[in-house]
Amino acid sequence: MTASTSSPTDAELIASVDERLHAVLRAVDLPDGLRDAIAYALFGGGKRVRPILCVRACEAVGGSATDAVSAAGALELIHCFSLVHDDLPAMDDDDLRRGRPTLHRHTNEAMAILAGDAMTSLAFYLLAQWPHPDPAAGVELVRTLSSSTTAMIAGQVYDTMGGFPEDETDMQRLRRTHGNKTAALLQAAGSMGGLCARAVPDQLMRLTTYAYALGLMFQAVDDLLDVTQTTETVGKQTGKDAAAGKLTYPGLLGVDGTRTEIDKLLDQALTAIEPLGPPAEPLRQMARTLATRDK
Ligand code: IPE
Ligand code: IPE
Ligand code: MG
Ligand code: MG
Ligand code: MG
Repeated sequence: MTASTSSPTDAELIASVDERLHAVLRAVDLPDGLRDAIAYALFGGGKRVRPILCVRACEAVGGSATDAVSAAGALELIHCFSLVHDDLPAMDDDDLRRGRPTLHRHTNEAMAILAGDAMTSLAFYLLAQWPHPDPAAGVELVRTLSSSTTAMIAGQVYDTMGGFPEDETDMQRLRRTHGNKTAALLQAAGSMGGLCARAVPDQLMRLTTYAYALGLMFQAVDDLLDVTQTTETVGKQTGKDAAAGKLTYPGLLGVDGTRTEIDKLLDQALTAIEPLGPPAEPLRQMARTLATRDK
């Protein structure tokens, strides 16, 4: 495909993804309480990392932002569902998310469970209701979102209940957990962006490799923020992972070792997309920004 001539700013692309998410909520018949709960979870000031990644990956291989809006919205629905369930008392038992009460504190536990359930099915509804014009790409988008959602759930099981193969080292367990609970969905954002642009296999492989390394790096930074940042800065309770016995990068490597690992993963991500040239510059900028984020 030829390169698109005009690219939206991050703020503009977030606005079009949000509009698509509002359209989903208008299109389905829901009890008001459930609709409000989903809206609370979706529009609460998230960074929108996965939608931006999806759209920038699409543009990096010659697609336009419009091609990727549905995929971007579907990814954000799955991500917000994962956060709602991650915060539940049976999981991380958190009261604060994005600087506000978590959904189960804002409403109640049953509503938070059901809102998460509904966000999962709505993600696939969105892909079907506003489909990609190429049906083959559309099927591949569904497959990729489905397998990464399942991987995220598997990762949450490793994170909260273990169940690792016996002979794995702690570092292998950490990679397995973080690779599934976080990197899988970011990787899907990279591949889905490529699919939306009908990327050729080599481009798709590069985007996928980049986004997986970025995903591991993203969770390494999240783990680091838990030990280095205040609750006020990140908008969620920090200093919790060690007390909860979580397997984390700082827990295994220390703060300096984690920073070294972040640099290594950043380098892997950048190397993978080097051949994509200037259209991939926003992906490079995004990786550098996410490596040094403080919230
Ligand atoms: C938090 O994700 C959970 C992780 C996978 C580390 P984000 O840091 O992307 O959360 P929001 O959407 O910006 O709140
Ligand atoms: C989150 O990991 C992973 C998913 C939500 C799938 P964390 O439990 O570390 O995320 P935060 O720190 O609560 O955002
Ligand atoms: Mg968790
Ligand atoms: Mg958590
Ligand atoms: Mg965390």
